[in-house]
Amino acid sequence: MSTRTRTADTARTADTVPEIEISGLHKSFGDNHVLRGIDLEIGTGEVVCVIGPSGSGKSTLLRCVNLLEEPTGGRVVVGGTELTDPDVDIDAVRRRIGMVFQQFNLFPHLTVTENLTLPQRRVLRRDKAEAARVAAENLQRVGLAEKADAYPSSLSGGQQQRVAIARALAMGPSVMLFDEPTSALDPELVGDVLAVMRMLADEGMTMMVVTHEMTFAREVADRVVFMDGGVVVEDGTPGQVIGSPAHERTRHFLSRLLDPAMAEVEEGRGGPGPG
Ligand SMILES: Nc1ncnc2c1ncn2[C@@H]1O[C@H](COP(=O)(O)OP(=O)(O)O)[C@@H](O)[C@H]1O
Ligand SMILES: [Mg+2]
Repeated sequence: MSTRTRTADTARTADTVPEIEISGLHKSFGDNHVLRGIDLEIGTGEVVCVIGPSGSGKSTLLRCVNLLEEPTGGRVVVGGTELTDPDVDIDAVRRRIGMVFQQFNLFPHLTVTENLTLPQRRVLRRDKAEAARVAAENLQRVGLAEKADAYPSSLSGGQQQRVAIARALAMGPSVMLFDEPTSALDPELVGDVLAVMRMLADEGMTMMVVTHEMTFAREVADRVVFMDGGVVVEDGTPGQVIGSPAHERTRHFLSRLLDPAMAEVEEGRGGPGPG
């Protein structure tokens, strides 16, 4: 059972320095103005789920938080360090931030353990024994200790994603970013990955999670952020944003998500059209 209590977490956020501070964030790709002024604060230990239609800028937002994309304007501060400062040590900041993608991006020619030890040795300069110890510890955490010597191709998608999570955790991040981590998985494999994410949340990891898993968002998130058209339309508790959304755009999105067939009928595309 989750030990998190939303009230306590929300209260804690108010009197601690935010782990992630995003203010006035803009990002354009050429003429395409994708992020149009994002303001968002995420407290230490908070779990924030980001939802919104395809193309609304969710991935771009996460990628700006670990500087996989360079913001066009605004500020991003992680753990008190301003990433958008031109003199920032990008690598040092990135080490604090683990990222998990829809595609697991494991090296197919390396074993599970080697996938976990390589970045530790290259980026953190850990020696072989230490890297192996940390790898084993994190495989244990995600329930895959017995797969240490397996190759990724012999694992299910869900197991590969848990390896990718373990790989990120082995770097000792203080923040974890997840970009639709279960979207590429067969439905029966989603639960194991969400269980690992729930465990991290219970342990107090600060997490930003782009997901359309509404049960996870309801049960695990402290806050849900609804994005559309490159802005934050709504930001509140799951009960507020999912349970009783204040904005029509949020309601519309949720209705399509929860019942795509009904949304089509509403839009007059599902049934026989007039004339
Ligand atoms: N590297 C890129 N180069 C050019 N355009 C991009 C790039 N990444 C994203 N975009 C554009 O940014 C918009 C938002 O994309 P994205 O952040 O992936 O949205 P979401 O994750 O919400 O589906 C889209 O119009 C997309 O085409
Ligand atoms: Mg995306």
